[in-house]
Amino acid sequence: MAIPENKLAFEGGWQYSPAPESIDHINLKTKYDLYIGGEFVAPESGRYFDTVNPATEECIAKVADANEADVDKAVKAARKAYNGAWSKMKAAERGKYIFRIARIMQERAREFAAIESLDGGKPIRESRDIDIPLAAAHFFYYAGWADKLEYAFPGRKVKPLGVAGQVIPWNFPLLMASWKIAPALACGNTVVLKPAETTPLTAMKLAEAIADAGLPPGVVNIVTGAGQTGAAIVTHPGVQKVAFTGSTKVGRIIQKALAGTNKKYTLELGGKAANIVFADAAIDQAVEGIVNGIFFNQGHVCCAGSRLLVQESVADEVVQKLKDRMDTLIVGDPLDKNTDIGAINSPMQLEKIESYLEIGQQEGGVMHQSSCALPDKGYWCRPTIFTGVSQSNRVVQEEIFGPVLAIQTFRTLDEAVSKANNTPYGLSGGIWTDKGAKIFKMTQKIRAGVIWANTFNKFDPTSPFGGYKESGFGREGGLHGLDAYLNLEA
Ligand code: NAI
Ligand code: MG
Repeated sequence: MAIPENKLAFEGGWQYSPAPESIDHINLKTKYDLYIGGEFVAPESGRYFDTVNPATEECIAKVADANEADVDKAVKAARKAYNGAWSKMKAAERGKYIFRIARIMQERAREFAAIESLDGGKPIRESRDIDIPLAAAHFFYYAGWADKLEYAFPGRKVKPLGVAGQVIPWNFPLLMASWKIAPALACGNTVVLKPAETTPLTAMKLAEAIADAGLPPGVVNIVTGAGQTGAAIVTHPGVQKVAFTGSTKVGRIIQKALAGTNKKYTLELGGKAANIVFADAAIDQAVEGIVNGIFFNQGHVCCAGSRLLVQESVADEVVQKLKDRMDTLIVGDPLDKNTDIGAINSPMQLEKIESYLEIGQQEGGVMHQSSCALPDKGYWCRPTIFTGVSQSNRVVQEEIFGPVLAIQTFRTLDEAVSKANNTPYGLSGGIWTDKGAKIFKMTQKIRAGVIWANTFNKFDPTSPFGGYKESGFGREGGLHGLDAYLNLEA
């Protein structure tokens, strides 16, 4: 294949002057307590753990490690607020508090974005342009529903559930907190939320924003800690609703723990989505979509397009263009506005990704990585693709949660459908074609909760999100997301 004209400019990688986001304006404490009953309180055990910047391996702050006694305190505070101020308040007033949180978030957006990138490793461009604006948008959207719930479910009586226990992951820390807290509050519930142990800081900043918004004490409680803290929330008898986003492995543990209880729950788990590129697609646009689908946020995305199914007649062209594009991607400092791929969230996650790079090669896959330079310190992974893989390969079947794409080809639409559906997951998918009819045919046949056509990884608070099969159940977002936080009576 001839070298594209613009390829010459790529040799040795793009050269940009550093453009780091300033962090002078951010306000971080060296130690964070638990946010319970409207106050910041020390953990019962007196124990704190480090949260680390994955790009430098330095500790950013100490964070409280909540045990069962702390969780119990938080659940009791939430129950007290539920029985008291929150349920006595008019729905329109409740809405005003949620609007207030949204506005504070917008006012502090730059600070939130920088902290998200520091604590979690995602590029500032993403935390600034995607995570934080979307998080605020969820509060704005659900604030509007607070006094209109009976219009959402005509003919039904709507009632809040009580205390919602919410456990979230590290890939979209503030956004996941907002997905969970905003609808819970709009429906009149109170909340105990636990952020992931590697990314607790924006949740603690959110606690400050909630305090500044003047919410009645105990309406939102935020406790930090690892799996045991999460388990204490899930199994606490004072919790009426559990919302979890994370691994399928923990999702199974939670489902077992909740079997036989009358807690309502939603699980949003892993994925192994395919981007499906037909020969009639706009190829350059599809290549951008594939890059966005898997390299966005280091592939730490449950709905990532971690597989590519490309029609045989254009496979060589697509793979070559993808490799050329991968060579232009900059891996490095998450705070630099030029960075495309930031730091892998933790050494554990890097180890998991690297083990899949081994597995993929042992299974006979051909691995190709870009040749960009990597920083000396921190946790990094170059964008990677595997060709020559088959459907039974582990890199095709299992969630890697890193910037690793498995590529297969297909000849017919039916073959594409059967390959796309042949994994344990069903969270999302992408279709690239010039033909509207093909889009409709495919969306009916692909077993996934979200399907994008000629685009990928687009989110909006008004549209529901959730999975089929081992990707979990229940829907978050949109009108459907209200259902998960209400009892609907005839
Ligand atoms: P994880 O599922 O262990 O962590 C998610 C959250 O659950 C964290 O807040 C954690 O503290 C909490 N947790 C852990 N054990 C718990 C338990 N027994 N009861 C209640 N809460 C518990 O995910 P982890 O270990 O951080 O990542 C492992 C893999 O999971 C990733 O490589 C990725 O494949 C997948 N994952 C999927 C996510 C998604 O958005 N669907 C998000 C994060 C991870
Ligand atoms: Mg961290």
